[in-house]
Amino acid sequence: MGTVGTPRVCLVAVGGAALFGALVSCRSSPELREFAGSYPADATPVGVTREFSLTAAPATVALLDGRPLQVWAYNGQVPGRVLRVRLGETVRATLTNRLPQPTTIHWHGVRVPNAMDGVPGVTQPAVQPGETFVYEFTPKDAGTFWFHPHVRASEQVERGLFGVLVVEDVEPRPYSQDVMWVLDDWLLTSEGEIFPQFNTRHDLAHDGRWGNVVTVNGRTREQLFVKAGERIRLRLLNVANGRVFRPDLSGLDAKVIAVDGMYAARPIDPVGFELAPGNRLDLDITVAANRGGQRVVVVDRFTQQPIPLAEIVVTDAVVATPDFASPARAHVPAWGNTRELATRAEYRLDARAGGPFGIQWTINGEAYDHADHGARPRNMQTLPYGEWSKLRFANDSFRLHPMHIHGQFFKVLARNGERVEEPFWRDTVLLHAKETVDVGLVPQDRGTWMLHCHVLEHAESGMMTLVNVTN
Ligand code: C2O
Ligand code: CU
Repeated sequence: MGTVGTPRVCLVAVGGAALFGALVSCRSSPELREFAGSYPADATPVGVTREFSLTAAPATVALLDGRPLQVWAYNGQVPGRVLRVRLGETVRATLTNRLPQPTTIHWHGVRVPNAMDGVPGVTQPAVQPGETFVYEFTPKDAGTFWFHPHVRASEQVERGLFGVLVVEDVEPRPYSQDVMWVLDDWLLTSEGEIFPQFNTRHDLAHDGRWGNVVTVNGRTREQLFVKAGERIRLRLLNVANGRVFRPDLSGLDAKVIAVDGMYAARPIDPVGFELAPGNRLDLDITVAANRGGQRVVVVDRFTQQPIPLAEIVVTDAVVATPDFASPARAHVPAWGNTRELATRAEYRLDARAGGPFGIQWTINGEAYDHADHGARPRNMQTLPYGEWSKLRFANDSFRLHPMHIHGQFFKVLARNGERVEEPFWRDTVLLHAKETVDVGLVPQDRGTWMLHCHVLEHAESGMMTLVNVTN
């Protein structure tokens, strides 16, 4: 990977002809110089391909304490099996659609070639029932990612279609255990079925569909057994349609090492971290040698009423703690003096009456038209490849909007105009009521990418647009 301070990005940004001009503009941009060495523009394939087959179909699973639940699932499992590859390996995943409606797979947070991004009408036609589609890409970054449909996502994800893609480092750290916790909630009827109405007026008028049962890895009582002395990599992912989690890890010696897949610049205290739909948080947890026999319940404190998520059970066995430096030492630019710099695009987020569901969520007064595939929204913006851009999200509503950009990582610069120092990248940032968030980014991936709210009902009713990354 690039060395800190190497202006490699500037060279990559132009290619051939305009080299001289680009070097000049590069030298004149402190933001680009700071960005250099953050993450690579290109993948480095090692020539190994990992094949996966993912069949999306209705299934019955034993969720929620063993009661059978009718779901839609990849290969009959919720969450789908964790796909694991090593950085440099190529993923070839064949999707077979056995659902009663079209679908696609979007690889959330993975910087894939644009044609592999899974957005119907933009990067591919939707995969019809009975059809297959092969997704093939070499991840550019190691970390915790996930995949889910991008067709009628508020229904398909809610019914159980989601899975995890872990891209391991070339040399994974010797953690005692590498554990995945997929956080979700389910809206069940009194008969224990998935509530069959989607995109209701209630969901749209609020923060999307919030369930009445919270699960971790599809279970209401997930337990993690650890030995005293172990050092655990715990990967959290929020796949809920609308629910935000704020896990209370205070009973643990835990540090955040990665956010939305990417390593942070340094280990961070997890206190107060909010996990909005789409977000990931990787934790480095050391279980002290003297904690044998103890139990720690991790609870969610986003809502007024704390919700137990899962339990960590420390067995009596004691092992030596693996000793290695925290992997959280990525190069992340500070971009501390960007306040006066111009905003390239502003996204104003709001709702209005109308549309197929009665309420539409809008970006700059426009609701994305899911039916009109191929139409370019008026509010589509162009971001220059390899150049620094500042974007502003302004929430004109009182609802929550986790704003996600496909194919890009960005850094939060300010909230409500006040500088914030987040030493990490994100692909999804939560906006609270009436909040304004400024982010900075240097696009390294060309193409037409979605930008949308990850409250899936908000997205379904219009809170989506496209950004075009091009030179
Ligand atoms: Cu998980 Cu378009 O996003
Ligand atoms: Cu929203």
